[in-house]
Amino acid sequence: MCGIVGAVAARNVQGILLEGLKRLEYRGYDSAGMAVISPQGQLDRRRAVGKVAALEECLEEAPLSGELGIAHTRWATHGKPSERNAHPHQSGESLAVVHNGIIENFESLKSELEGQGYVFTSETDTEVVAHLLAREVDRQADLFEGVRRVLASLDGAYALGVAHCSEPETLIGARQGSPLVVGVGIEEAFLASDPLALLQVTDRFIYLEEGDLVRLRQGGSIEIFDINGKPVERPVKIFEHGDGAASKGDYRHFMLKEIYEQPAVIAKTLEGRLAQSSVLVNSFGTEAEALFSRVKQIHIIACGTSYHAGMTARYWLEKYAGIPTQVEVASEFRYRQVVVPENTLFVTLSQSGETADTLAALRFSRELGYLGALAICNVPGSSLVRESDLTLMTHAGPEIGVASTKAFTTQLTALMLLALALGKVRGVNEGRQAEIVAALRELPRMVSRVLALDSEIEALSTAFAEKHHALFLGRGAHFPIAMEGALKLKEISYIHAEAYPAGELKHGPLALVDNEMPVIAVAPNDELLEKLKSNLQEVRARGGELFVFADENVHLKEGEGIRVLRLPHIDEALAPILYTLPLQLLSYHVAVLKGTDVDQPRNLAKSVTVE
Ligand code: G6P
Repeated sequence: MCGIVGAVAARNVQGILLEGLKRLEYRGYDSAGMAVISPQGQLDRRRAVGKVAALEECLEEAPLSGELGIAHTRWATHGKPSERNAHPHQSGESLAVVHNGIIENFESLKSELEGQGYVFTSETDTEVVAHLLAREVDRQADLFEGVRRVLASLDGAYALGVAHCSEPETLIGARQGSPLVVGVGIEEAFLASDPLALLQVTDRFIYLEEGDLVRLRQGGSIEIFDINGKPVERPVKIFEHGDGAASKGDYRHFMLKEIYEQPAVIAKTLEGRLAQSSVLVNSFGTEAEALFSRVKQIHIIACGTSYHAGMTARYWLEKYAGIPTQVEVASEFRYRQVVVPENTLFVTLSQSGETADTLAALRFSRELGYLGALAICNVPGSSLVRESDLTLMTHAGPEIGVASTKAFTTQLTALMLLALALGKVRGVNEGRQAEIVAALRELPRMVSRVLALDSEIEALSTAFAEKHHALFLGRGAHFPIAMEGALKLKEISYIHAEAYPAGELKHGPLALVDNEMPVIAVAPNDELLEKLKSNLQEVRARGGELFVFADENVHLKEGEGIRVLRLPHIDEALAPILYTLPLQLLSYHVAVLKGTDVDQPRNLAKSVTVE
């Protein structure tokens, strides 16, 4: 939920750290800070409330200089956003620490430290770590050993970066439950929560494992120790995505850029995974065929937008593979008494692969007797990918906008591949499979055609900017698409939005419908169309203003109180992917009209690595 970056190099690291923080801002942006060890061997720190730009201004007025430093951008968990709660936290004048995660036993540790005379200057859990480390280093006179001992007393999740004046050439990092990578430079070394933060200085990374502790030293030395303190070698991996992904290019916002990338990234997600008229099952790994042939049930677990992808996939897995499927949010699943029928496949969906609840659900699933765990994920090397038996990577590239767009449609694409692969192994619906595969090949082109409707969608957005509520309706696999539409609108425009399966309208939400409540309906040409049309009549009869996204072949008359935007006809199986696009664009334009912070909406973070 917060972003960490650290550097030890034979040059002033302020610029590297600042650039890293800007690239990590998607993880948190309510305050930021930086500390370096100055050429005189002293700790020098700057902190500022607000976005990284506020810290940048502060650094312009009072620059830092030093060859070793740590920095942090925060998303508050313990203590409100304020300068004194911003990281790095210090104990005295010699030790500074940055932290991502939550120390669950901080209260008892804090009272113990207060009893020994340590004075706390913040409300954070992190400050406990700073004082514990300072106490240990005083006792041990060795920074690395001190950190190792303190870690043993911490419960919870953390990624840490630690600097101490007594060892001005050593930077320590540790990871337990929160991501941390080491950037391998030429005679220099770096730490970060996400490789994205360091692409300006290196493309070579070591992904630390749970429990790892790392010592970086001036000159580029990198020593890693596992949870038992044993020195270990971890592979150096070359980062796959180009650096261009972290910049907005000619777009006003990352979100818009990412919406427009969808034809290309969907094509990438399909690349090399389709045979003539079916899906290549071994795209899911060499073990996939044997495992898939045994699957009798599926449980899908995810959070946020990824959960909506899972809900959509349920319709596909049941229809095209004939496999009973349940979908649940990870935060509920992990605390439930789960009954797992024999031969159930456990599937996690996650853009980041680091969402704390999803990761905990995967670990919890290991005790429950599942057939195996498949992760559909966008980040190679993420914890979820490393800990799953089978993986299918979406190739969306880095997604920076907090509101997820291209990650969602590539997840849907990957999930359709899963439904078809399972159908193939089980010999279900073979003729239909070939049709859907043909439609998948056309999908990027169809998505581009919908993007060409952008100015018409922008024109619709004026009807929403002054409204306080909105209702989204869909049926079948388009109900989760309506949910995703409502989520996008509330995330970035702060308009209260709800989604309902249209058939439920008369069981409650109809009471809310009047001319102040715009109603958005998703109406592809499928077997539920006639039923949906009756539901729309119910809205019109109550004076509700309707905005319908419909198939070009659907007979629906525009008129007073009903606006219809026509989408190109697509195979019914893939319509949920196509109908996502206008809802993304609509939310985007409403947010722009309202002047909200589109890429970094208030109170939200891109990657939720705390529970
Ligand atoms: C956060 C983000 C959402 C995202 C969710 C799950 O809430 O703001 O956009 O859908 O986390 O993230 P994941 O990386 O697991 O897909």
